[in-house]
Amino acid sequence: MTEEIIIVEGNGTLQGDVPIAGAKNSALKLMVATLLGQGTSVLSNIPRISDIDVMIEVLERLGAKVSREDHDLIIDTAPVNSFETPYDLVSKMRASISVLGPLIARFGEAHVAMPGGCQIGARKIDMHLAGLEALGVEFDIDHGDLVATTPHGLRGTHVTLEFPSVGATENLLMASVVAKGDTIIENAAREPEIEDLADILCEMGAVVEGAGSSTIEVHGVSIEDFHPVHHRTVGDRIEAGTFLVGGALSGGPVTVHGIDPSFLRMALLKLRTMGCDVECGDDWIRVSRDKPLNSTDIQTLPHPGFPTDLQAQFLLLAAVADGISVITENVFENRFMFASELMRMGADIMMEDHHALVRGIDALEGAPVSATDLRAGAALVLAGVVAEGQTRVYHIEHIDRGYEDYVGKLRSLGADVRRVAKDSI
Ligand code: UD1
Repeated sequence: MTEEIIIVEGNGTLQGDVPIAGAKNSALKLMVATLLGQGTSVLSNIPRISDIDVMIEVLERLGAKVSREDHDLIIDTAPVNSFETPYDLVSKMRASISVLGPLIARFGEAHVAMPGGCQIGARKIDMHLAGLEALGVEFDIDHGDLVATTPHGLRGTHVTLEFPSVGATENLLMASVVAKGDTIIENAAREPEIEDLADILCEMGAVVEGAGSSTIEVHGVSIEDFHPVHHRTVGDRIEAGTFLVGGALSGGPVTVHGIDPSFLRMALLKLRTMGCDVECGDDWIRVSRDKPLNSTDIQTLPHPGFPTDLQAQFLLLAAVADGISVITENVFENRFMFASELMRMGADIMMEDHHALVRGIDALEGAPVSATDLRAGAALVLAGVVAEGQTRVYHIEHIDRGYEDYVGKLRSLGADVRRVAKDSI
């Protein structure tokens, strides 16, 4: 495929209404959860993004039949006859590791390639493995593959996670639903996507209580009790937050639709303290601003704390706010690569360890920049919208991993932004 870049003409504003897609981080896990129920499940509100394409390939390699109708995914898991996910898929997308729990649940065995390093820190899987071991899974490493077996079956247990890891909570949840007896997961992740996963599992036949809180209780049932389902994915709080930042940057109003405002409490609080007006309905949020942006202090934390996936977008807001902001990244190492790109656009940022000290400036200048990850990529395009002059964003394949039709949605809000083939410029 021809490599594309995004060109943004600056001095723009964003105004209007934008529909929010289903949550990427939920959809990926709902897809693997369907492996538990043999037959045809339908998942709706699935975003059309490249990470979903990779997960479709993961399911197809296991033997599932997957088809798509607009934003519905139809997954027939009856023909699944393999429990292997090779390196070419896991290296494309780390979230492929979430297939481990469902495969262990369905087959009692799994061969999944170990994920390699990741650009945003070490991102280990030790907590996934320790939790699954407590459930009775035995692991070996064979030429870079994790080989999981359950010689004595899965048995309910009490696990306390060292950190409320989203991925570890999900893998544990998906394996423990078929363990013999009860499992308690303490210090569980509380992200809305965990609740969405628990919901689909319960609709399929599992018995799970407390998802969304720090203690999740699972009463194990037999794999034969699971059946296919029809489930709708929750809205993507990070996509919504990204467009709200766009509105806050340029004054708006920007209204995002298809998102539960309670998913974004901390981000909305920060927008208000930065001087924005924020209004909410049942499934929409509107942001506008008619005075200068105030500086702020933000530290990323597991949900319901401030989401790390909105750190880059808020760092951008801080870069053009009045005064000095301190942004602290507590969830991932090395997640300030975005700051260096923003500095190419004139931002005044000092980084030390996991803190960024941001001195607001009057205006950013358009420049050629590179998306270092998907959230950084989305934020760089927003930076281009309000900067002076033209911005070219390279490596936009990162944006396509998580944002459906980002350019089209920004254009519908009035931005002068387009995708062009890299070779054509
Ligand atoms: C998920 C999201 C990602 C989001 C993150 C935190 C998906 C596909 N991705 O990633 O967008 O930024 O949650 O909200 O849902 N860790 C360990 N050992 C482990 C597991 C995690 O040390 O076994 C560390 C990681 O290196 C990281 C931190 O814990 O520093 C958080 O990771 P985790 O919550 O597991 O994030 P992911 O599930 O990978």
